[in-house]
Amino acid sequence: MSTKTARSQWSSRFTFILAATGSAVGLGNIWKFPYITGEYGGGAFVLVYLCCIAILGIPMLMAEIMIGRAGSSSPSNSFRELTTANNLNKHWSAAGTIGVTAAFLVLTFYSVIGGWSIAYLSYSLQGLFAGNDAAAIGDIFNDLISSPSAVIGWHTIFMLFAVSVVARGVNKGIEKTVTVLMPAMFILLLMLVAYASTTPGFQQSLQFLFSFDFSKLTAEGVLQALGHAFFTLSLGLAIMLAYGSYLGKDVSISRTAVIVSFLDTLVALLAGIVIFSVAFSNNLTPGAGPGLVFQTLPLAFGQMPGGNLLSIFFFFMLLFAAWSSAISITEPCVSQLMQRFNISRKRSSALIGISAWLIGVLAALSFSVLSDTHIIGLSIFDFLDYITTNILLPLGCMITALFCGWALPKTISQEALDLNDTQHKLWIFILRFITPVLILIVFISNFL
Ligand code: PHE
Repeated sequence: MSTKTARSQWSSRFTFILAATGSAVGLGNIWKFPYITGEYGGGAFVLVYLCCIAILGIPMLMAEIMIGRAGSSSPSNSFRELTTANNLNKHWSAAGTIGVTAAFLVLTFYSVIGGWSIAYLSYSLQGLFAGNDAAAIGDIFNDLISSPSAVIGWHTIFMLFAVSVVARGVNKGIEKTVTVLMPAMFILLLMLVAYASTTPGFQQSLQFLFSFDFSKLTAEGVLQALGHAFFTLSLGLAIMLAYGSYLGKDVSISRTAVIVSFLDTLVALLAGIVIFSVAFSNNLTPGAGPGLVFQTLPLAFGQMPGGNLLSIFFFFMLLFAAWSSAISITEPCVSQLMQRFNISRKRSSALIGISAWLIGVLAALSFSVLSDTHIIGLSIFDFLDYITTNILLPLGCMITALFCGWALPKTISQEALDLNDTQHKLWIFILRFITPVLILIVFISNFL
């Protein structure tokens, strides 16, 4: 199919919401949000985070979806359609190119972690965690990441999962898959929450997450909340540009953006309740990152009655969250390549899959045979993470904010966004001044 034929469309607003929520809900909700919340003052942090989502996240989410829908093309080309139609500088499309580049690089290492989650699902299906102590659980993790054949194998399977869905197209691939994955993920999460509420650590977890401790809310905490608001809504990676380009003109972008942000936050909070209840019930201190999901939780599950079944639920949930996010990172890359070289979706998916897989192999091996290879002092895996999250992602968001705030004629956004006059003025004001300044602050602080 060439890019010239009619562009696909989501079959309903609901499927768009599922796909966008599938993108937003990912490892960030499960292994980062709960931890930073506990670290920086519980309820006080949640309050700041909600402000960041409302002030920065939602307006930016609206901006990306709007540009995608208005341009109805690949990420860079959607910008270009708008700049051409309105006689603007064509270099604004750099935001699309930067976003797609970032998405491609994120895909390479996201697939490695996605692979770990399939590995852990298989371990939980085999009941490997039962009765193990911390050392044995630590060995399971270290054995996995230090085995080149294992990590590459799981990475390969996960990459195939993601790419094969995108290759089948928006309706038959992405839409069909997220309509199964997302409801299943929600049901698993709700079952885990129901279980968590019966554990002795439940009260403590609520206290950890929701008791206000403003003394723990430092400037660093506020910066974390800012950065996480962008990451968790998958902004700056051209994802919402790509997904927005398949959105029908009759759908309200503002309302949809609010719903997606609400669901994303809900999942983060519920995942936090589950994780902390399980950890506290076993007298474990929860940390962040891979250690939390791949060591602390398996250890806890291994000690609890019925823990094996819970671990199966949990790793299915993790896999579904990671899978739907990976699909969303693949789509902008595939769409861009299709449009740029006028090739079919299948061919574009294959090219993206193979090249991202190759770089991912290097990232996967940076925990074993390539552990001595460093780029600017970072392992290959950390380097990829660093340049995407700390540099490309904020840069893409910054250009998008400036474009919508300063360059794009106001009438265009007013018409596209379904906002009243005051709301639209506020939206412009935020993207003109607030977002760029705050991104600049986060950007600079990342270097300090
Ligand atoms: N938004 C996802 C999360 O919170 C992260 C993500 C990053 C998803 C990059 C897609 C691409 O985990």
